[in-house]
Parts: sequence; C-alpha cells; structure tokens
Amino acid sequence: MTQSVPVVFLPSGRRGTFCLGTPLLTAARQLGVDIDSVCGGRGLCGRCQILCTEGDFPKHSITSSAEHLSPFSATEVQFEHRKGSLQPGRRLSCHTLIQGPLVIDVPAESQVHRQVVRKSAVVRDIKIVPDIKLYYIEVEENELDAGSSDLTRIQTALTAEWGLADLAFDPSILSRLNSALTQGKQSVTVAVFDPGLTPTLISIWPGLVDRVFGAAIDIGSTTLALHLTDLVSGDVLVSNGRMNPQIRFGEDLMSRVSYAIMHPDGISEMTEVVRAALNELIQEAAAEANIDPDWIVSIAAAGNPIMHHLLLGIDPTPLGVAPFTLAIDTEINLPAGAVNIAINPGGRLYLPPCIAGHVGADTAAVILSEQPHKTEKISLIIDIGTNAEIVLGNNQKLLACSSPTGPAFEGAQISCGQRAAAGAIERVRIDPETLLPRYRVIGSEIWSNETGFADAVADLAVTGICGSGIIEVIGEMVLTGILSSDGVIQASAAARSDRIVQNGRTFAYVLVPGDHPVMITQNDVRQIQLAKAALYAGVKLLMDRFPVQKVDEIRIAGAFGSNVDAQYAMLLGLIPDCALQQVTSVGNAASTGLRIALLNQESRAEIAALVKQVQKIETAVEPAFQQHFIEAMAIPHKTDPFSVLFEQIERPPPIAPAPTARRRRNNRP
Ligand code: FES
Repeated sequence: MTQSVPVVFLPSGRRGTFCLGTPLLTAARQLGVDIDSVCGGRGLCGRCQILCTEGDFPKHSITSSAEHLSPFSATEVQFEHRKGSLQPGRRLSCHTLIQGPLVIDVPAESQVHRQVVRKSAVVRDIKIVPDIKLYYIEVEENELDAGSSDLTRIQTALTAEWGLADLAFDPSILSRLNSALTQGKQSVTVAVFDPGLTPTLISIWPGLVDRVFGAAIDIGSTTLALHLTDLVSGDVLVSNGRMNPQIRFGEDLMSRVSYAIMHPDGISEMTEVVRAALNELIQEAAAEANIDPDWIVSIAAAGNPIMHHLLLGIDPTPLGVAPFTLAIDTEINLPAGAVNIAINPGGRLYLPPCIAGHVGADTAAVILSEQPHKTEKISLIIDIGTNAEIVLGNNQKLLACSSPTGPAFEGAQISCGQRAAAGAIERVRIDPETLLPRYRVIGSEIWSNETGFADAVADLAVTGICGSGIIEVIGEMVLTGILSSDGVIQASAAARSDRIVQNGRTFAYVLVPGDHPVMITQNDVRQIQLAKAALYAGVKLLMDRFPVQKVDEIRIAGAFGSNVDAQYAMLLGLIPDCALQQVTSVGNAASTGLRIALLNQESRAEIAALVKQVQKIETAVEPAFQQHFIEAMAIPHKTDPFSVLFEQIERPPPIAPAPTARRRRNNRP
C-alpha cells in the first residue's frame, strides 16, 4: 500500500495527508489552498511557486525537509531556461512531488488572493480578488469529420482542463479565435470575466499570456489621473495625468452644464474629448510600461456626477437644477468598447455608483479608500478640488455633501495664483517683527532667505503662488497682525513694513517685489474666505445633521490636500477644530479607491451597499447653509472658538475691528 504523509501549507495552515508521489499543486488544490496557475500545471507560467520550510514543527508533528521533495524536474530546468532562475529554494508546485512530511510556504506572489502590501502611508493594503482570470489551454485540432467550431473546441478544452462550463462569450472574441489558435499552434490563453453571474469569455491570445493589466482613472473636472496597474501583482506600473480637455467648454461644472444647454452638440463634444483624452492617457501609459494595450482588460473610473454622465454620453443638464436628478445611481459595468475606450476589445469598464446629484462616484471611491464606516471614530473626509466633497461619519452612519468652493484653492481667481507646478510658491513664513517674508517654491528645498536660493531657482521662474502657499501666506498674515480676523489687510501694518502697500482703495502684501510683484491683494483674501466659508459651512451642515460637536480625525484628500499644512488650514478655518496630529493628507483617495475596486471585486459589492446607506445633504437647498457660511467668513470663525488649535499654537494678536460706516459717520468731526 502507498504510504501517506502529512503536509501543511502556510500561511493558511491547511493540512492533509497525501500519498507519496502526489504533486504539491494537486495536494494544495484538494485542500483549497490559494495557489495561482495560468498554465494548468504545465510548468509554463511559474505562478505556482512554493518553498519548503525546513525544521521540526512539534505543533504539527512534522519534521520538514527539502529532501522530502522530488528532485528538480526537467520541466523546472526548462522553465529556468526560458524565464530565468527560480529564487533559492523555490519550486514549481505542479512539478514537485511529495516524498515525505512537509511544511510548505506559499509566497504572496503565488496566491491569487494576495495582499498588496502598503508602500506608503497613503496607499492602502489591497486584497486581490480578481474578476478576470487567465486560463491557458491546449485545444484539439479540428478534424474534417468532426466539424467542430473554434469556439466549441475552446469551450471543450476549458471544461476538460479547468472545469469551466456554460461560459458566455463577448462577441468581440469571435474575430480573434482562429488567428489566436493558428498563431499559437492550438495553444491559447483566454481571459474569463466572472463577476459572480455568468462567466464570460472576453479575450483570447495565442500561446501563454500570464499578465494582464487594468487602469484606475479619476476623471476630475480639472485633471485626469490614471494608474496603470498589474492585475496579478497589484503593482502600479505607471501613473500619469493631464488636464481635462473639457476645460475649454467651461472651467467649472456649471459652465459645462451651460455649454450642454446652449449648444446642440455640446454633450457629444464634451463626451468625445474626454474619451479621446482617456485613450491617449492609456496609450501613453502602456507605451511607458512597455506593454501592449491589448493586455489591458479592465478599467475602473470615477468622477463627479457631471463628469460621470459626460463620460457615458448622458445629458448632465438635470444635474444643474434642483432636484439634481441622476440618470443612474447604481454601479456601471459594461464593455469598455461601448464608450469607445480603446483597450482590449473585450475589456470591461466599471464605475462605482454616484451617491447623489452633487456627490459622485469619485466620493464613493474615496469612502472605499478611507473606510470611515469601519471605525467608531467620527471621521471627516474632505476631497478638495473645484468642488469640495465632504463625508462625515463612523460605523454608525455616514453623511455626504458637496460644497461649491470654486477653484480658489487651486490658485484660480487669485491675482498671482497658479496651479501647483515648478516655480510656484508653496511655503511662506513672515517675520513677526520686520514683516519680511521668506518662501519656498516647488522644485527647490531652499528657502528664499538661504544661501543658494538664487541658483536653485535660476531655472524656475517664480511667477505665482499655488493653493498651499496661499493658505500659508494668509495664515502668516493673520499670525503677524497684517490681517484681521474679519479678513481685512490692515492699513496700520503699512507703517510697520513697506511690504504692505496701497492697492487702489485697499492694501496688499508684497511677497516678491519687482516689476511684476507676487502679492496678496484684499480681493485674494476675500476669494479664499469665500471658498473656505463654503467648505466649512458644508462641514457644519453635516455635523449638525449627524449630530456631533467635534470630529475625531480629519483626512484631506486631493492634490491640494497633499500639500496643505494642517495647521494653516485650521488657522484659516478651512477645517474644523481638531488635534493637529489627527489631521492627515491622504493623497488622491479617489484613485486609491478605484485601484481597490479594480483589484478586488468584493469591494464593489461593499461600496454598492454602503452608498445606499449614505445620507445625502444637498447644500444648495439647506436653509442653515447661509448662516453657517456667514459665520465661517471670519478667520478662523466668528463663533467657533478653535480651542484645541489654540492650545497647540499661539492665538493671533487681537486687532480692533475696522470701523463700520455708521461709526465712521458718528466720528466725523
Ligand atoms: Fe503554471 Fe506550475 S501551474 S508553472
């Protein structure tokens, strides 16, 4: 009788007893151990690699040794010849036989449902649960008397080799079947899309293809951001971006809705340009990663409701007026070709559900990334772009709204404002005695008062100030008494420094003197006050509705959030009072959420369920918004004391309020 021996697979801990001579991949399959394979155990793909863990394991009563594995097989030698050496100790489990008790380690790269390990604070761990899998098959030649079609023979091979039956097929595959079989000498790799209903054959390639790719695309009203991702390893290969070409139809969302209303072809024009830009981004990313765009089989994309509708070619005009009706509020899953996205012809496009008429699929992706529903802490998440999307909540409930901040935080509507690009001022400090500034620009680590600054910025024209710089300079103006809490640049400060200059009927602060000075005008301050008051009023509406008096943590998403200093953002009253160490930047959280959705199909069900539970607050029709807005115009706020902040930093010097018109009249001599 054939002897049986124990084998334990780690990290799952699954254990069984197997006859000597059993291939390790077969043993793993019988135990339901998560080991990948594309080639079906032919020793071609290398995805089934394992390691023998040697030593005594009293817990399992096993003494495990590499000598309990069959010798290196000819197939493994051939594999190394073709693909390069296996790492020390690694074996192909499909061609390694059990010859004694074993403890086997399945490395993360060999698991289908692997965890993508966090590489930085803003990148979450992602568990890979693919909805598209690759299967290598060797298909019977057609015989004259059998008369079996290419599709039938492929389906027969999939059933025989992989147990896959009753597959539907994407029509785009039909034109590729014969050439793939011919080129591959009847050996092909197919991609099967299986979101849980009917598995569907979506693509085919000749020979062995063991890598496919996807892209997470955040469609912002200003910028498009793409992350080309390996669907097997979860690694981001290329990140690129560009301006949204729809900007030429209107800077902000409402002007694009107006364009759609005013121009009969407006919707199709805006749809076409964004699709073309996405295709260019995809082509560029594929070229940079040196991969064939035909290997891109999945896209997860999101944007605010208007971007979402325009991508799909849907009229966005109902989103411009109350009751801000969405055409669809469920997730979208369709062939990418249906919206002219040029990836593999059978590739899929997924968009998370929009939350409300003003709160889009991008916010759904932010929630997926930040997971506020998994903690008792009250989290406030703010995604600052041209509009600010705000989410407040915890594991009890989630609320969301959008607030019309406008583009001031991105440098627009500011006299010397510019986007965050090389040469833009991003950090500012003002000496409290002399009121002289020092600053740092993007592209240089040297402050303007340090030796070497002139050389460092010689190639960078310092022409303007970006959003984070504006927040800092206004914060510093408050701290040094140049600016009052009601946002007025003080005439009295002009006596203290020649950096405060008359500018028409008001004053301005000169950051960089010269023929074309970079300065902060009274109107610039006003634009920031309007933007931050809109944001804060949205936050307060959600806090009222929750109801909650304070938040436990604040996460700032978006490009602006990556650079802004939390202390200055709070000092201006852009975000509510909170311990500063509880305020974090989370980068492009929408993109992170989309990467999760791209790699983990279970997360799509999670977000679909969550979005249904999010309470939507429509700021445009909330009566309390106006009152909150007025109170939030003060810096940091008219009534909220910001006591936690001022325990951590010094309170700005008191400045007597500017005389009102009535007082001025009464004081007339
Ligand atoms: Fe493909 Fe082992 S399963 S090499």
